[in-house]
Amino acid sequence: MDKLWTGRFKKRLNDKADDFNSSLPFDMRMYKQDIEGSVAHATMLAEQGIIPREDSEAIITGLLGILTDIESGGLAIDGEYEDIHSFIESTLTSRIGEAGKRLHTARSRNDQVALDLRLYLRSESEEIEGLLRNLIGTVAALAGNHTDTVMCGYTHLQRAQPITFGQHLLAYAFMLLRDLDRLRDCKKRMNISPLGSCALAGTGFDINRMYVAEILGMDGVSENSLDGVSDRDFASELAFVASMIMMHLSRFSEEIILWCSWEFKYIELDDSFSTGSSIMPQKKNADIAELVRGKTGRVYGNLMTLLTMLKGLPLAYNKDMQEDKEAVFDSIDTVKNALAVFAPMLASIRVNKDNMRKAAATGFINATDGADYLSSKGLPFRSAYKIMGELVAYCIDNKKTLEELTLAEYRRFSDLFDGDIYSAIDMNNCVSKRVSRGGTAPQSVSAQLDIIKKALAE
Ligand code: ARG
Repeated sequence: MDKLWTGRFKKRLNDKADDFNSSLPFDMRMYKQDIEGSVAHATMLAEQGIIPREDSEAIITGLLGILTDIESGGLAIDGEYEDIHSFIESTLTSRIGEAGKRLHTARSRNDQVALDLRLYLRSESEEIEGLLRNLIGTVAALAGNHTDTVMCGYTHLQRAQPITFGQHLLAYAFMLLRDLDRLRDCKKRMNISPLGSCALAGTGFDINRMYVAEILGMDGVSENSLDGVSDRDFASELAFVASMIMMHLSRFSEEIILWCSWEFKYIELDDSFSTGSSIMPQKKNADIAELVRGKTGRVYGNLMTLLTMLKGLPLAYNKDMQEDKEAVFDSIDTVKNALAVFAPMLASIRVNKDNMRKAAATGFINATDGADYLSSKGLPFRSAYKIMGELVAYCIDNKKTLEELTLAEYRRFSDLFDGDIYSAIDMNNCVSKRVSRGGTAPQSVSAQLDIIKKALAE
């Protein structure tokens, strides 16, 4: 089969080199965007009088026929083509003849591939956006059921202060909301048409770049043709957003795995999202969460692949850039799969409120509230802190909790203690008084929930 570059060459490409060079096996997924871009280009070429209108019409009909045939399974994308662009152009010409050869006027594969990738990633970003929204909605719904479920909050994975499970969950909703924002922001720079940059220098044909961009629903055109063909920032940015999403899901996964362990038993995953062991009959493992955590590594790797591939490239196009696709495609696939499984997994968890409450009862996580109590009675906080530290040490020595100490015992440490110390350190009160903006009290959590819901409705 003839290559696009026939004319200059006397020999066929070596078979091994041909295989090595081809991106068809992985860029075939951009067939639709390639056709969309070509239809827009052919429309503009005729509009500008650069090619005859009959040829443009034949090209467009031919391209749409190819699209229909690919989607119906009637046309298989294979053969010794260098990439999806060559495949479609060759198929077009073999179907409609001479007119097909005019499609590539005032265009190069360099601006063509840059356009296709932008269009493809734009549509994938929209899917990721939908999946993210759905997950945020799931997190919010679960949080809404637990605005007053008391659990133990941790720092350094040591018991710290009582919090509400709803607030803990909403922390993830806010992370994912920022991801949503990042995705939208990324789209601003992605949704720009490079078409018309041609090989690298632009063209002498009287093209209308903005018209093509408008047909494709893009927000503008790239302003420098060298940059137009060699910019892959948009792919790198998306790979970063995917990394960030995976990092958030991975942290969430880590907690889910911990919470499912016998040591915590805060939640139980539904059987339909758990796996067993081939040897240990008692096992119920959180494989899905572990895999989300595990796959985060490859998504980071893809980002590194892209940044490293780009770092030494002279302007403008270099074949190295063909390597952008597998990396960013893998990130997209991975993040989509992870988001799609995470939401129903989370929706199916059973929350063990009693165990959460029991864990909150030990570990002296109301000690800060004791110190706050003393400082509200006039003692400087640092002195109050010290007294409570001594009380905790006393409790450990005497195997008691702060709730179990008598008032006489309290007063041995400070005569500021009165009978109201018990309500000051009551776990429910510890939680319900933290009404500061963003705090853990049920009313603060409800306010956070409203923010999330409002952002989702936008
Ligand atoms: N398959 C190529 C890529 O993905 C398309 C552009 C090829 N351009 C070229 N001059 N060889 O980057």
